Amino acid sequence: MSISFGYFLPAYGEITSFRWFSAGGGFRLGHSLTSLVVRRYPLCGRYRLEEDSSMVLSSAPVFSRSVKGQEWYQADDIAEEYDDKRFSRGGQLIDRREKEAVLNAVSPLEDRKILEIACGTGRFTSLLAENGADIVGLDISAAMLQRGRKKAQLRGVSDNLEFLRGDAGRLPFPDNHFDTVIAMRFFHLADDPAGFLSEMRRVSRDQIFFDTFNRFSTRSVYNWALPMGSRLYSKSEVAVLLAKTDLTLVNVEDDFIAPYGLYRAIPNVLAQPIRAIDTTIGKTTLGDHLASVSYWNVRLR
Ligand SMILES: C[S@@+](CC[C@H](N)C(=O)[O-])C[C@H]1O[C@@H](n2cnc3c(N)ncnc32)[C@H](O)[C@@H]1O
Repeated sequence: MSISFGYFLPAYGEITSFRWFSAGGGFRLGHSLTSLVVRRYPLCGRYRLEEDSSMVLSSAPVFSRSVKGQEWYQADDIAEEYDDKRFSRGGQLIDRREKEAVLNAVSPLEDRKILEIACGTGRFTSLLAENGADIVGLDISAAMLQRGRKKAQLRGVSDNLEFLRGDAGRLPFPDNHFDTVIAMRFFHLADDPAGFLSEMRRVSRDQIFFDTFNRFSTRSVYNWALPMGSRLYSKSEVAVLLAKTDLTLVNVEDDFIAPYGLYRAIPNVLAQPIRAIDTTIGKTTLGDHLASVSYWNVRLR
């Protein structure tokens, strides 16, 4: 067992482990797969000493690139409530739309070798496995992955997928290892999007699919208040990123003029008519400009 020494991260008021949380290229002591982490839970202010025995697949330093809210998703209570908070009530419509976007972009799935980075609770990992993909879900948070494994078990696809703990900034795979690499709800957390994108490109031989939250959208009204930190992108910024990473845009779809927060706050039955209006406006030119999310389907050059 090794002990990871912590430091104070003012943004989240957490004492965090160098091993897991250093944003600027921290180090870990020894090569044991077990460490002790002192963690302060942001919402309740409690400190707890925890043993963390999940395997990190990349070699030290664990984090080469900074990710906002990286710590946020490590906490058990955050992982526990992740799906319910976002995808129940009117949030079911968001979940459905995101799944449709992923399925449309990456199909046909039979025997397609897919890596999902920042897979979280495995919403897409299980779905893609059910549809015949050969898929690996990778995430930095043991707590989120634990939920993903449970979900896969409940859906009877545990044998058809693999969950790994690791850092999206240093993927533990050789070049061109997958046909497709996807990342959903990840880029708003990335401080170095170009770095993450080029790592995704390195391990993909054909396609990359990801989403971004848009700068000129209703999300910008409340984005600043989100506890995990959230980056918004303009279309031209993403276009520059793709060009820098030698990627070609195949298709981009924009959606959701009404903010996610509104859908989540109301019952599904009320969310449905709002969604209908949202989709109608979304089909207009105005809709393209106000949409809060974009789904990017790109290919390697
Ligand atoms: C908003 S959640 C999205 C989860 C999932 N993709 C979804 O759409 O439901 C962001 C996820 O990114 C993960 N994450 C953050 N930084 C990461 C990193 N450097 N490497 C891998 N995963 C990371 C978090 O642990 C969390 O599970």
